[in-house]
Amino acid sequence: MEIVSDNYGVGILGIGSGVPKNVLTNEDLEKLVDTNDEWITSRTGIKKRHVLAEGEKPSMIVEEASRNAIEDSGVPLDKIDAVIVCTFTPDSPIPSVACLVQGRMGIPPCIAFDLNAACSGFVYGLQVAEGLIRTGMCEHPLVIGMDCVSRFINYKDRDTCVLFGDGAGAVVLGKVEEGRGFLGHHSGADGTGADLIIIREGGAGSPLTKDTVESDERFVKMNGREVFKFATRVISEAVEKALENAKLTTDDLDVLIPHQANIRIISAAADRFGIPMDRVVTNVHEYGNTSAGSVALALDTARAEGKIKEGQICALVAFGAGLTYGATIIRW
Ligand code: UT7
Repeated sequence: MEIVSDNYGVGILGIGSGVPKNVLTNEDLEKLVDTNDEWITSRTGIKKRHVLAEGEKPSMIVEEASRNAIEDSGVPLDKIDAVIVCTFTPDSPIPSVACLVQGRMGIPPCIAFDLNAACSGFVYGLQVAEGLIRTGMCEHPLVIGMDCVSRFINYKDRDTCVLFGDGAGAVVLGKVEEGRGFLGHHSGADGTGADLIIIREGGAGSPLTKDTVESDERFVKMNGREVFKFATRVISEAVEKALENAKLTTDDLDVLIPHQANIRIISAAADRFGIPMDRVVTNVHEYGNTSAGSVALALDTARAEGKIKEGQICALVAFGAGLTYGATIIRW
């Protein structure tokens, strides 16, 4: 329904996803590093992850997710008037993936940019896009969360290679009835934790040289235990503050759609909010941690599994490198 009055909500009109066909199972990883299915499953909940094949590019799965979301929304392609790709793994530093996809898909010229808040990117992107609508800059932004972390993983490092996968999820936003859609947000960053998840080499501050190309500093390095502690604390704080901004409490929460990093982090959050696991969306077993793709892909899973019903209050929440965090409350 097209809303024309001054009092309106901003919400999600369509959802889509795109993942590479290529799958890497725990058993495949057992052949690469000293790990095993039992350890990975019990410590993380992950069974497999989708990864780009040689020659495939991140923008390809962004395009697939975008086409699915636009089709699902019923918004004509020529009415999309902003493209925000949330990612830290673009095809190349320039042009942005947003421009690549806008051009390739034939979306009319519009605001198009990439946004990097690592795993929190998609939640940040939703918040920025709502701002664009409310300031009158656009009506139907396309927001995509995508990461292809496999391109920055050392498949000899068991601390990281078992965790990450590649994937993209997309949504089309627009005006909805007042009282529906986004009800409250809370996001932030604490850069004092910048070293906890980091790729040290390969950016403009430390361009790749013959020496660094051999070094494993061009891959993701993570202090898992510290990030785990940060995650369990910040999920509660971010969701509670976003609920407060929405004038709601944890008692009002029907569905939790969290960043898919680790099933233990997700179930700790569910316990904290008193939500049974059947109202928590999980697909970490299928995709692993797809960084900015994660919450967006989980939204698609939530809808496919019939976990989000009209009128329900959902919390999206993410955390990641930066360290960043973000939560958004939606009335579906
Ligand atoms: O989106 C980005 C956000 N990142 C995250 O959310 C990650 C948050 N952290 C985590 O999810 C967990 O900390 C991990 C899954 C990364 C690690 O789980 P943990 O329970 O914290 O394990 P640990 O690091 O304390 O390691 C326990 C043991 C160690 O052996 P010792 O020292 O006890 O002998 C590790 O060497 O497990 C060993 N280990 C492994 N064993 C088999 C570490 N990685 C592996 C592995 N396979 N892949």
